[in-house]
Amino acid sequence: MFELIDVEKNCFVQVYKRFPFVVSRAEGARIYDTNGNSYLDFLSGLAVNILGHSHPIVIAAIEKQAKRYLHLSNFFYQDIQILYAEKILKIARYDKIFFVNTGAEGIENALKAVRLWGNKRKKKNVIAFGNSFHGRTYGCLSLMNKPLYKNGMEPFLPNITILPFNDIESLVNHIDEQVAGIFLESILGEGGLDTISQKFADTLMDLKEKYDFLIVADEIQSGLFRTGSFFAFDHFGIKPDIVALAKGLGGGLPLGAVLFSERFSDFFNKGTLGTTFGGNPLSCAAGFATLDFIHPNLLPHINYISSYLDGKLKELQSKFSDSIVSLKGLGLMRGISLKFDASILVDKLFEQKIISNATSSNVLRILPPFIINKAEVDEFIEGIKNALENI
Ligand SMILES: Cc1ncc(COP(=O)(O)O)c(C=O)c1O
Repeated sequence: MFELIDVEKNCFVQVYKRFPFVVSRAEGARIYDTNGNSYLDFLSGLAVNILGHSHPIVIAAIEKQAKRYLHLSNFFYQDIQILYAEKILKIARYDKIFFVNTGAEGIENALKAVRLWGNKRKKKNVIAFGNSFHGRTYGCLSLMNKPLYKNGMEPFLPNITILPFNDIESLVNHIDEQVAGIFLESILGEGGLDTISQKFADTLMDLKEKYDFLIVADEIQSGLFRTGSFFAFDHFGIKPDIVALAKGLGGGLPLGAVLFSERFSDFFNKGTLGTTFGGNPLSCAAGFATLDFIHPNLLPHINYISSYLDGKLKELQSKFSDSIVSLKGLGLMRGISLKFDASILVDKLFEQKIISNATSSNVLRILPPFIINKAEVDEFIEGIKNALENI
Protein backbone atom coordinates (compact mmCIF):
# COMPACT_ATOMS: atom_id res chain seq x y z
CA MET A 1 0.00 0.00 0.00
CA PHE A 2 2.73 2.49 0.94
CA GLU A 3 4.64 1.55 -2.19
CA LEU A 4 1.71 2.76 -4.34
CA ILE A 5 1.49 5.99 -2.36
CA ASP A 6 5.20 6.57 -3.07
CA VAL A 7 4.68 5.89 -6.77
CA GLU A 8 1.86 8.46 -6.76
CA LYS A 9 4.24 11.04 -5.24
CA ASN A 10 6.79 10.33 -7.96
CA CYS A 11 4.34 10.40 -10.86
CA PHE A 12 1.68 12.99 -10.15
CA VAL A 13 1.82 16.76 -9.92
CA GLN A 14 1.17 17.21 -6.23
CA VAL A 15 -2.03 19.24 -6.32
CA TYR A 16 -4.28 16.99 -4.22
CA LYS A 17 -4.33 16.24 -0.51
CA ARG A 18 -5.44 12.61 -0.59
CA PHE A 19 -6.66 10.47 2.29
CA PRO A 20 -3.69 8.30 3.33
CA PHE A 21 -4.89 4.88 2.16
CA VAL A 22 -5.27 2.97 -1.07
CA VAL A 23 -8.85 2.09 -1.98
CA SER A 24 -9.70 -1.51 -2.60
CA ARG A 25 -13.45 -1.16 -3.28
CA ALA A 26 -16.49 0.88 -2.31
CA GLU A 27 -20.12 -0.04 -1.73
CA GLY A 28 -23.10 1.98 -0.50
CA ALA A 29 -21.80 4.59 1.94
CA ARG A 30 -18.57 2.68 2.64
CA ILE A 31 -15.09 2.77 1.15
CA TYR A 32 -12.73 -0.15 1.92
CA ASP A 33 -8.93 0.10 1.91
CA THR A 34 -6.40 -2.53 0.92
CA ASN A 35 -5.92 -3.44 4.60
CA GLY A 36 -9.59 -4.30 5.00
CA ASN A 37 -10.54 -1.11 6.90
CA SER A 38 -13.92 0.41 6.16
CA TYR A 39 -14.65 4.14 6.10
CA LEU A 40 -18.03 5.87 6.31
CA ASP A 41 -18.23 8.17 3.29
CA PHE A 42 -19.93 11.52 3.94
CA LEU A 43 -18.28 13.13 0.92
CA SER A 44 -19.80 10.93 -1.86
CA GLY A 45 -17.02 11.51 -4.37
CA LEU A 46 -17.59 15.28 -4.03
CA ALA A 47 -21.37 14.92 -4.45
CA VAL A 48 -21.08 12.57 -7.44
CA ASN A 49 -22.14 9.21 -5.94
CA ILE A 50 -25.67 10.24 -5.07
CA LEU A 51 -26.87 6.61 -4.80
CA GLY A 52 -23.74 5.60 -2.90
CA HIS A 53 -20.96 3.50 -4.39
CA SER A 54 -21.61 0.79 -6.96
CA HIS A 55 -25.38 0.78 -6.65
CA PRO A 56 -26.59 -2.48 -8.30
CA ILE A 57 -29.11 -0.65 -10.48
CA VAL A 58 -26.41 1.64 -11.83
CA ILE A 59 -23.94 -1.19 -12.38
CA ALA A 60 -26.59 -3.19 -14.28
CA ALA A 61 -27.34 -0.20 -16.52
CA ILE A 62 -23.63 0.32 -17.26
CA GLU A 63 -23.15 -3.38 -18.03
CA LYS A 64 -26.15 -3.44 -20.33
CA GLN A 65 -24.97 -0.39 -22.25
CA ALA A 66 -21.33 -1.56 -22.35
CA LYS A 67 -22.44 -4.73 -24.15
CA ARG A 68 -24.24 -2.64 -26.80
CA TYR A 69 -21.57 -0.01 -27.54
CA LEU A 70 -19.36 2.44 -25.63
CA HIS A 71 -19.04 5.50 -27.81
CA LEU A 72 -20.26 6.70 -31.15
CA SER A 73 -20.06 10.56 -31.04
CA ASN A 74 -22.85 13.06 -31.38
CA PHE A 75 -23.15 12.35 -35.10
CA PHE A 76 -25.62 9.58 -34.21
CA TYR A 77 -29.12 9.39 -32.71
CA GLN A 78 -28.72 7.28 -29.55
CA ASP A 79 -31.76 6.02 -27.64
CA ILE A 80 -30.25 6.19 -24.14
CA GLN A 81 -29.02 9.74 -24.61
CA ILE A 82 -32.34 10.93 -26.04
CA LEU A 83 -34.45 9.22 -23.37
CA TYR A 84 -32.28 10.60 -20.59
CA ALA A 85 -32.49 14.13 -22.03
CA GLU A 86 -36.28 13.84 -22.16
CA LYS A 87 -36.43 12.61 -18.55
CA ILE A 88 -34.19 15.41 -17.21
CA LEU A 89 -36.10 18.14 -19.04
CA LYS A 90 -39.45 16.78 -17.84
CA ILE A 91 -38.41 16.72 -14.18
CA ALA A 92 -36.51 20.00 -14.39
CA ARG A 93 -39.19 21.71 -16.49
CA TYR A 94 -36.72 23.12 -19.00
CA ASP A 95 -36.99 23.19 -22.77
CA LYS A 96 -33.65 22.17 -24.30
CA ILE A 97 -30.46 20.41 -23.22
CA PHE A 98 -26.81 20.30 -24.26
CA PHE A 99 -24.78 17.45 -22.76
CA VAL A 100 -21.14 17.95 -21.73
CA ASN A 101 -18.70 15.99 -19.56
CA THR A 102 -18.00 18.13 -16.50
CA GLY A 103 -19.34 21.01 -14.47
CA ALA A 104 -16.74 23.47 -15.74
CA GLU A 105 -17.66 22.64 -19.32
CA GLY A 106 -21.29 23.31 -18.51
CA ILE A 107 -20.43 26.76 -17.16
CA GLU A 108 -18.22 27.49 -20.20
CA ASN A 109 -21.08 26.69 -22.56
CA ALA A 110 -23.51 28.72 -20.47
CA LEU A 111 -21.08 31.64 -20.66
CA LYS A 112 -20.95 31.31 -24.44
CA ALA A 113 -24.75 31.35 -24.57
CA VAL A 114 -24.85 34.47 -22.39
CA ARG A 115 -22.32 36.28 -24.59
CA LEU A 116 -24.13 35.25 -27.79
CA TRP A 117 -27.47 36.39 -26.39
CA GLY A 118 -26.03 39.58 -24.90
CA ASN A 119 -24.08 40.60 -28.01
CA LYS A 120 -27.30 40.55 -30.04
CA ARG A 121 -28.75 43.07 -27.58
CA LYS A 122 -25.67 45.19 -26.93
CA LYS A 123 -25.46 43.83 -23.40
CA LYS A 124 -21.76 43.31 -22.73
CA ASN A 125 -21.46 42.67 -19.01
CA VAL A 126 -21.60 39.59 -16.87
CA ILE A 127 -22.04 39.49 -13.10
CA ALA A 128 -20.93 36.73 -10.74
CA PHE A 129 -20.61 36.48 -6.97
CA GLY A 130 -17.71 36.17 -4.56
CA ASN A 131 -17.05 32.85 -2.79
CA SER A 132 -18.78 30.96 -5.58
CA PHE A 133 -17.07 28.05 -7.26
CA HIS A 134 -17.76 27.39 -10.94
CA GLY A 135 -14.81 25.26 -12.06
CA ARG A 136 -11.16 25.40 -13.09
CA THR A 137 -11.19 26.56 -16.71
CA TYR A 138 -10.41 30.16 -17.67
CA GLY A 139 -14.04 31.09 -18.21
CA CYS A 140 -15.03 29.64 -14.85
CA LEU A 141 -12.11 31.24 -13.02
CA SER A 142 -13.05 34.56 -14.60
CA LEU A 143 -16.37 34.27 -12.73
CA MET A 144 -14.65 33.61 -9.40
CA ASN A 145 -12.66 35.51 -6.82
CA LYS A 146 -10.69 32.63 -5.26
CA PRO A 147 -7.06 33.79 -5.09
CA LEU A 148 -5.62 30.29 -4.55
CA TYR A 149 -7.08 29.11 -7.85
CA LYS A 150 -6.38 32.27 -9.86
CA ASN A 151 -3.45 34.30 -8.66
CA GLY A 152 -0.65 34.57 -11.19
CA MET A 153 -2.76 33.12 -14.00
CA GLU A 154 -4.01 36.45 -15.37
CA PRO A 155 -5.34 37.71 -17.72
CA PHE A 156 -8.91 36.47 -17.30
CA LEU A 157 -11.99 37.23 -19.40
CA PRO A 158 -13.06 40.88 -19.60
CA ASN A 159 -16.44 42.47 -18.81
CA ILE A 160 -17.08 40.35 -15.73
CA THR A 161 -17.82 41.95 -12.36
CA ILE A 162 -17.71 39.89 -9.20
CA LEU A 163 -20.01 41.23 -6.49
CA PRO A 164 -20.16 40.19 -2.84
CA PHE A 165 -22.42 37.15 -2.36
CA ASN A 166 -25.97 37.83 -1.19
CA ASP A 167 -25.41 41.59 -1.00
CA ILE A 168 -28.60 43.29 -2.17
CA GLU A 169 -27.20 46.81 -2.21
CA SER A 170 -24.28 46.00 -4.48
CA LEU A 171 -26.58 43.97 -6.74
CA VAL A 172 -28.94 46.91 -7.15
CA ASN A 173 -26.03 49.29 -7.76
CA HIS A 174 -24.41 47.17 -10.47
CA ILE A 175 -27.35 46.02 -12.56
CA ASP A 176 -28.37 48.02 -15.61
CA GLU A 177 -29.26 47.50 -19.30
CA GLN A 178 -25.64 46.53 -20.02
CA VAL A 179 -25.88 43.28 -18.06
CA ALA A 180 -26.26 40.20 -20.24
CA GLY A 181 -26.20 37.56 -17.54
CA ILE A 182 -25.76 36.73 -13.88
CA PHE A 183 -24.14 33.52 -12.67
CA LEU A 184 -25.56 32.33 -9.38
CA GLU A 185 -24.85 29.46 -7.02
CA SER A 186 -27.82 29.76 -4.61
CA ILE A 187 -25.94 27.70 -2.04
CA LEU A 188 -22.16 27.93 -1.95
CA GLY A 189 -20.89 24.36 -2.26
CA GLU A 190 -17.19 25.19 -1.98
CA GLY A 191 -17.60 28.59 -0.39
CA GLY A 192 -18.95 27.67 3.05
CA LEU A 193 -22.53 26.46 2.39
CA ASP A 194 -24.09 29.93 2.72
CA THR A 195 -27.39 30.39 0.93
CA ILE A 196 -28.88 33.46 -0.69
CA SER A 197 -31.65 35.15 1.29
CA GLN A 198 -35.25 35.25 0.09
CA LYS A 199 -34.96 39.03 -0.14
CA PHE A 200 -31.90 38.72 -2.40
CA ALA A 201 -33.78 36.23 -4.61
CA ASP A 202 -36.82 38.53 -4.81
CA THR A 203 -34.63 41.54 -5.64
CA LEU A 204 -32.86 39.56 -8.35
CA MET A 205 -36.16 38.58 -9.95
CA ASP A 206 -37.45 42.18 -9.76
CA LEU A 207 -34.26 43.44 -11.45
CA LYS A 208 -34.55 40.76 -14.11
CA GLU A 209 -38.07 41.93 -14.86
CA LYS A 210 -36.83 45.51 -15.15
CA TYR A 211 -33.59 45.03 -17.13
CA ASP A 212 -34.03 41.66 -18.89
CA PHE A 213 -30.78 39.80 -18.29
CA LEU A 214 -30.20 36.05 -18.17
CA ILE A 215 -29.84 34.18 -14.91
CA VAL A 216 -27.51 31.19 -15.09
CA ALA A 217 -27.86 28.84 -12.13
CA ASP A 218 -24.88 26.72 -11.16
CA GLU A 219 -26.63 23.63 -9.78
CA ILE A 220 -23.65 21.41 -10.37
CA GLN A 221 -23.30 20.43 -6.71
CA SER A 222 -26.72 21.41 -5.37
CA GLY A 223 -28.95 20.00 -8.12
CA LEU A 224 -30.61 16.59 -8.56
CA PHE A 225 -32.58 16.70 -5.27
CA ARG A 226 -29.56 17.13 -2.99
CA THR A 227 -31.33 19.95 -1.15
CA GLY A 228 -34.73 18.22 -1.24
CA SER A 229 -35.99 19.90 -4.41
CA PHE A 230 -34.63 19.22 -7.88
CA PHE A 231 -32.74 22.53 -7.85
CA ALA A 232 -31.53 24.56 -4.88
CA PHE A 233 -32.97 27.70 -6.49
CA ASP A 234 -36.46 26.15 -6.22
CA HIS A 235 -36.32 26.99 -2.51
CA PHE A 236 -36.18 30.69 -3.39
CA GLY A 237 -38.65 30.87 -6.29
CA ILE A 238 -36.01 31.86 -8.85
CA LYS A 239 -36.56 30.88 -12.49
CA PRO A 240 -33.19 30.92 -14.28
CA ASP A 241 -32.92 30.90 -18.07
CA ILE A 242 -29.94 28.54 -18.09
CA VAL A 243 -28.92 25.83 -15.61
CA ALA A 244 -25.66 23.89 -15.35
CA LEU A 245 -25.77 20.35 -13.94
CA ALA A 246 -23.00 17.78 -13.47
CA LYS A 247 -21.63 15.71 -10.51
CA GLY A 248 -24.37 13.08 -9.91
CA LEU A 249 -25.92 13.53 -13.36
CA GLY A 250 -23.89 10.62 -14.74
CA GLY A 251 -24.61 8.29 -11.81
CA GLY A 252 -20.88 8.15 -10.99
CA LEU A 253 -19.59 8.58 -14.56
CA PRO A 254 -18.57 11.92 -16.08
CA LEU A 255 -21.56 13.82 -17.40
CA GLY A 256 -22.72 17.42 -17.32
CA ALA A 257 -25.54 19.29 -18.98
CA VAL A 258 -26.71 22.79 -19.72
CA LEU A 259 -30.47 23.24 -19.61
CA PHE A 260 -32.14 26.09 -21.48
CA SER A 261 -35.53 27.73 -21.01
CA GLU A 262 -37.96 28.24 -23.87
CA ARG A 263 -36.43 31.53 -24.96
CA PHE A 264 -33.52 29.42 -26.30
CA SER A 265 -35.75 27.04 -28.31
CA ASP A 266 -34.47 28.20 -31.68
CA PHE A 267 -31.38 30.04 -30.54
CA PHE A 268 -28.48 27.80 -31.57
CA ASN A 269 -27.32 26.90 -35.06
CA LYS A 270 -25.67 23.65 -36.05
CA GLY A 271 -22.03 23.77 -35.00
CA THR A 272 -22.34 26.61 -32.46
CA LEU A 273 -21.69 24.20 -29.59
CA GLY A 274 -20.09 20.78 -29.67
CA THR A 275 -18.20 18.05 -27.84
CA THR A 276 -16.71 14.63 -28.58
CA PHE A 277 -17.61 12.82 -25.38
CA GLY A 278 -20.44 14.96 -23.97
CA GLY A 279 -23.53 12.83 -23.41
CA ASN A 280 -21.62 9.60 -23.91
CA PRO A 281 -23.95 6.60 -23.75
CA LEU A 282 -22.33 4.87 -20.76
CA SER A 283 -22.72 8.00 -18.59
CA CYS A 284 -26.26 8.51 -19.87
CA ALA A 285 -27.18 4.90 -19.04
CA ALA A 286 -25.80 5.26 -15.50
CA GLY A 287 -27.42 8.67 -15.08
CA PHE A 288 -30.78 7.52 -16.40
CA ALA A 289 -30.84 4.56 -13.99
CA THR A 290 -29.86 6.85 -11.11
CA LEU A 291 -32.48 9.52 -11.75
CA ASP A 292 -35.10 6.86 -12.47
CA PHE A 293 -34.38 5.30 -9.06
CA ILE A 294 -34.55 8.66 -7.28
CA HIS A 295 -37.59 10.20 -8.91
CA PRO A 296 -40.10 9.83 -7.43
CA ASN A 297 -39.50 6.80 -5.17
CA LEU A 298 -36.43 7.95 -3.20
CA LEU A 299 -37.74 11.48 -2.57
CA PRO A 300 -39.59 10.63 0.68
CA HIS A 301 -36.39 9.02 2.02
CA ILE A 302 -34.29 12.05 1.02
CA ASN A 303 -36.69 14.33 2.88
CA TYR A 304 -36.92 12.02 5.88
CA ILE A 305 -33.17 11.49 6.25
CA SER A 306 -32.46 15.20 5.65
CA SER A 307 -34.71 16.19 8.54
CA TYR A 308 -33.25 13.42 10.71
CA LEU A 309 -29.76 14.76 9.97
CA ASP A 310 -30.97 18.30 10.64
CA GLY A 311 -32.35 17.30 14.06
CA LYS A 312 -29.09 15.59 14.99
CA LEU A 313 -27.03 18.58 13.83
CA LYS A 314 -29.18 20.90 15.96
CA GLU A 315 -28.62 18.66 19.00
CA LEU A 316 -24.88 18.83 18.31
CA GLN A 317 -25.02 22.59 18.00
CA SER A 318 -26.70 23.06 21.35
CA LYS A 319 -24.36 20.59 23.07
CA PHE A 320 -21.18 22.07 21.57
CA SER A 321 -22.06 25.76 21.35
CA ASP A 322 -18.49 26.60 22.37
CA SER A 323 -17.18 24.97 19.14
CA ILE A 324 -20.05 25.37 16.66
CA VAL A 325 -20.84 28.85 15.35
CA SER A 326 -23.78 27.91 13.13
CA LEU A 327 -25.31 25.27 10.90
CA LYS A 328 -25.47 25.93 7.19
CA GLY A 329 -26.91 24.57 3.98
CA LEU A 330 -30.02 22.67 3.00
CA GLY A 331 -31.12 19.03 2.78
CA LEU A 332 -28.15 16.72 2.30
CA MET A 333 -25.79 19.59 1.53
CA ARG A 334 -24.91 20.84 4.98
CA GLY A 335 -22.11 22.67 6.72
CA ILE A 336 -21.03 23.06 10.31
CA SER A 337 -19.37 26.42 10.83
CA LEU A 338 -16.72 26.06 13.53
CA LYS A 339 -14.80 28.41 15.77
CA PHE A 340 -11.60 26.74 14.55
CA ASP A 341 -10.03 25.37 11.37
CA ALA A 342 -12.37 22.67 10.04
CA SER A 343 -9.47 20.54 8.79
CA ILE A 344 -8.80 19.69 12.45
CA LEU A 345 -12.25 18.12 12.67
CA VAL A 346 -11.78 16.39 9.29
CA ASP A 347 -8.60 14.76 10.66
CA LYS A 348 -10.32 13.74 13.93
CA LEU A 349 -13.18 12.19 11.95
CA PHE A 350 -10.72 10.38 9.74
CA GLU A 351 -9.10 8.86 12.83
CA GLN A 352 -12.55 7.33 13.45
CA LYS A 353 -12.73 6.17 9.82
CA ILE A 354 -15.22 8.80 8.73
CA ILE A 355 -14.64 10.67 5.46
CA SER A 356 -15.61 14.35 5.29
CA ASN A 357 -13.98 17.55 4.14
CA ALA A 358 -13.59 21.21 4.92
CA THR A 359 -14.70 24.13 2.82
CA SER A 360 -13.99 27.81 3.32
CA SER A 361 -11.46 26.97 6.06
CA ASN A 362 -13.79 26.81 9.08
CA VAL A 363 -16.78 24.92 7.67
CA LEU A 364 -17.10 21.14 7.79
CA ARG A 365 -18.94 20.07 4.64
CA ILE A 366 -21.45 17.22 4.81
CA LEU A 367 -22.40 15.59 1.49
CA PRO A 368 -23.67 12.07 2.19
CA PRO A 369 -25.15 9.86 -0.53
CA PHE A 370 -28.96 9.96 -0.70
CA ILE A 371 -29.22 6.30 0.37
CA ILE A 372 -27.70 7.07 3.77
CA ASN A 373 -29.67 5.50 6.66
CA LYS A 374 -30.34 6.53 10.26
CA ALA A 375 -27.62 4.27 11.69
CA GLU A 376 -25.05 5.86 9.37
CA VAL A 377 -26.16 9.38 10.32
CA ASP A 378 -25.88 8.36 13.99
CA GLU A 379 -22.38 6.98 13.39
CA PHE A 380 -21.34 10.26 11.76
CA ILE A 381 -22.84 12.38 14.55
CA GLU A 382 -21.20 10.15 17.20
CA GLY A 383 -17.89 10.68 15.40
CA ILE A 384 -18.30 14.47 15.58
CA LYS A 385 -19.24 14.27 19.28
CA ASN A 386 -16.13 12.20 20.05
CA ALA A 387 -14.00 14.60 18.04
CA LEU A 388 -15.39 17.79 19.60
CA GLU A 389 -15.03 16.35 23.10
CA ASN A 390 -11.33 15.86 22.37
CA ILE A 391 -10.48 19.07 20.53
C1 LIG B 1 -20.87 24.50 -7.72
C2 LIG B 1 -19.85 23.91 -8.65
N1 LIG B 1 -19.73 24.40 -9.89
C3 LIG B 1 -18.83 23.91 -10.76
C4 LIG B 1 -17.98 22.88 -10.41
C5 LIG B 1 -16.97 22.36 -11.40
O1 LIG B 1 -17.31 21.05 -11.76
P1 LIG B 1 -16.20 20.09 -12.41
O2 LIG B 1 -15.18 19.83 -11.35
O3 LIG B 1 -16.98 18.87 -12.82
O4 LIG B 1 -15.65 20.81 -13.57
C6 LIG B 1 -18.05 22.35 -9.12
C7 LIG B 1 -17.12 21.30 -8.69
O5 LIG B 1 -16.88 21.08 -7.54
C8 LIG B 1 -19.01 22.88 -8.22
O6 LIG B 1 -19.13 22.42 -6.97
